[in-house]
Amino acid sequence: MDSKKILIVDDSPVMLKALSHSLKQQGAVISQAEDGRTALEIARENPFDLIITDVAMPVLNGLELCRSLKDDHRTRTTPVIILSSLDEEEDINKGFHAGASAYVRKSDASNVLLSTIDKILKKSSFQQNKLILVVDDSETTLKLVQRSLEQAGFQVMTAKDGQQAYNLISEIRPDLIISDIDMPVMNGVEFCKKVRANSDFALIPFVIMSANSDRAIVRRMLNRGANGYLVKPFNLEQLVVTIEKMLSDQYLLLMKETENLNIERRMMLASITSLIEALEARDRYTRGHSDDVSRMLTNMAAHMNMPQDEIDILSIAGKLHDLGKIGVPDAILLKPGSLTAEEFNMIKEHPVIGANILGPIPTLKPVIPVILHHHERMNGKGYPDALKGSQIPLWSRMTAVADTYDALTSDRPYRAGMPDEKAFQIIEDVKGSELCPDCVELFFSVMQLSDKDAEVSVRESSEISYNKSV
Ligand SMILES: [Fe+2]
Repeated sequence: MDSKKILIVDDSPVMLKALSHSLKQQGAVISQAEDGRTALEIARENPFDLIITDVAMPVLNGLELCRSLKDDHRTRTTPVIILSSLDEEEDINKGFHAGASAYVRKSDASNVLLSTIDKILKKSSFQQNKLILVVDDSETTLKLVQRSLEQAGFQVMTAKDGQQAYNLISEIRPDLIISDIDMPVMNGVEFCKKVRANSDFALIPFVIMSANSDRAIVRRMLNRGANGYLVKPFNLEQLVVTIEKMLSDQYLLLMKETENLNIERRMMLASITSLIEALEARDRYTRGHSDDVSRMLTNMAAHMNMPQDEIDILSIAGKLHDLGKIGVPDAILLKPGSLTAEEFNMIKEHPVIGANILGPIPTLKPVIPVILHHHERMNGKGYPDALKGSQIPLWSRMTAVADTYDALTSDRPYRAGMPDEKAFQIIEDVKGSELCPDCVELFFSVMQLSDKDAEVSVRESSEISYNKSV
């Protein structure tokens, strides 16, 4: 309580004297008022860290004083503790309703007043140091949210759309952003994406305010970096609780860890991409194979309406599926003639080698089964585990189709790449026995779409050539 400025309001001189004495002993700087009106005038002139007020007083009672303090922007953020001999549940509710931060019964004061003051002062200095940016195109919502947050003790800035908000956060870094979704100029989805794409803002918690009907968008935004949401019309207490939770040290630490994981993931992907490039540089025949498979998988996943985070994982899995070939000697990998049984057995090791290389990296856990099982066959005659049908993970079955198509249509040391029609026929022939029928159908649908896209492109510009894996 050292040097904290506290205003005590009570019509009883005995009470004023006793409380002042006790708080001065704790190091507080005390001012006094004997009624609400006087207290209000003093508080408007001098900023206080805390106001402690009685309820039953002449001229302006404690509840009216509290309401007036919370209505005035000069005093709105000052916390108020009500100290009263009225101890009915209803009286306490009225106190909180008027905007008090705590309510202490005079009969309990000797036990709990000091600890309550301590708690409120700590919370208030934490909140007064926190800047919240509220973004909404509705003036009414902006005012309502701003007022509630200021009453709770936060500093607040506002913006009317995502663009204005983004410009603002570049100048003044807020501690938390709370944003509407539907807004002109730049909506909440775009705004959130832009905030998360900038590493300077990666650790600012982002809370969405949305109407009920926006649930699908909310889910998408939570997947893309928003940290929480409030459904309109929301309870203003809930708003403050959510924000306090997100600003807690524990939560910010968790965000920091997530960001570190993302940085680790990006760095690791960059290293692995170099590894793949090194692998493919050894073999001109498979150059670009991993990228092609990855693109086909991305298109198949998008066609299935998979969530974006799963599409991203599958895209990475496509890039990495043959990483284990790094452990296969050149003499076998690049051999132009047919392989001996022993040599083929070494090639068959590559899914296990790949899974072992990536196994220790926690963020790549979901891609391991794809890599390990991309050579399993529906009839159980694949490797390494001879899994059958639905025992094979779906993503591995999808990868097997894309991998087969790309292998058939690319040049190899022992044969030239075949045309699409022939590759499609072979895929159709092994549908069910080797390749998953559903994944083959999905693949054909995607390829048909690609054909149509390619036709359009060719018509639009003679320079754009057909790309089989678009
Ligand atoms: Fe492979």
